Amino acid sequence: MLVHARKIIYPAYRRRQAVVAFNTINAETTLAIARAASALRRPTLFEVSEKTITYLGLNTVVELVRTICDDPSIKASLAIHLDHAHTYEICVAAIKAGFTSVMIDGSALPFSQNVKLTKRVVDYAHKHNVLVQGEVGALKPVVKGARLVAASDLMTDPAQAREFVAKTGVDTLGVAVGTLHGAMKMFHKLPQIDFSRLNSIHQLVKIPLALHGASGVPAKDLKKARSLGVTIVNIDTEIRLSYLTSLRRELKSQEHEYDPRVIFYPVIADIQKTAEQKLKALSTTYGTR
Ligand code: G3H
Ligand code: 13P
Ligand code: ZN
Repeated sequence: MLVHARKIIYPAYRRRQAVVAFNTINAETTLAIARAASALRRPTLFEVSEKTITYLGLNTVVELVRTICDDPSIKASLAIHLDHAHTYEICVAAIKAGFTSVMIDGSALPFSQNVKLTKRVVDYAHKHNVLVQGEVGALKPVVKGARLVAASDLMTDPAQAREFVAKTGVDTLGVAVGTLHGAMKMFHKLPQIDFSRLNSIHQLVKIPLALHGASGVPAKDLKKARSLGVTIVNIDTEIRLSYLTSLRRELKSQEHEYDPRVIFYPVIADIQKTAEQKLKALSTTYGTR
C-alpha cells in the first residue's frame, strides 16, 4: 500500500531502526522492490531521481508506483520520495504530482545558498504536508593510489549540519560520511565510513539521517551506521547491477526468445532477491541502536 513517507520514516526513527530507500527506474524495478518489501513485510521507500522523471514522465512514475503499491498482493507500506532534486521547481512539481517526501540537494552550492534554497522548499513542502530532505557536505570521489575514496574536505561538518537543520527546518538530512554514489566504487576497494564523524553528527542533529551511496556497504557497517542515527539507507547501484547482470544472462541464454516478458520474468525475480537481501541486512533482528 502506498502511504505517506512520514509513516515509514518516523516509526523507524523512534524504534531506532533503518529503512531502505531504493531508487526505481521503471516497471520492472518497481515490481521487484514492492514484492521484496511485501515478502518481508518491511516498510520501504521508493526514490525517484530527476533522470527517471525525464525518462518516464512525472505523472507516469507516480501512477506506476501508486498502482503497483496499491495492488492487493502487496502487503507492505511503501512511500515515494524525490531523490537529489536540484531546483525548487522540480520539488514543487513533484509535490503537486503526489510525492510525500522530496530531497532538495543544494550540497554543491555555498552553504548560505544551500540554506536559502532548502528553506524555500521546506516552506512550500510543509504547507502541503510533505517532508523535505536536505544535504550538507558532498559525496565526491577522489583517486588515492589504487583506491577510490570520498573527498574528506567535502564530508559533512557536524556543527554545520546542526546549523543547517536549525536554519532550514528540514525533516531528514543526507550526510556525506565516506560513502560514494555509483558503480565505480564497486570495482575498487570500497570506501570506508567515517563513523566518528557520523557519531558527532548524530550527537548534534536530532532528525533522521540518510546514508547516500550505500550500495556495497557491508551489512555490519550498515548496522553500525544505524546505531549512529542513520534511519534511511539509499540503494540504487546494487539494484541496477542486479538488473543488468540478470538481463545480460537471460539475453544470452534465451537467444531465440522473442517475447520480452519471458526474458524479464527471471530478471524481476533476481532484482527482488537483491532487494530482499538488502532488507534482510537491516532486519530488526540484527540488533538495535
Ligand atoms: O544518487 C543518485 C541516484 O543513484 C540516482 O541516479 O540520477 O542516474 O537516476 P540517476
Ligand atoms: P548508490 O549509488 O550507492 O546505490 O547510492 C544511491 C543513492 O545514494 C541514491 O540517492
Ligand atoms: Zn544519493
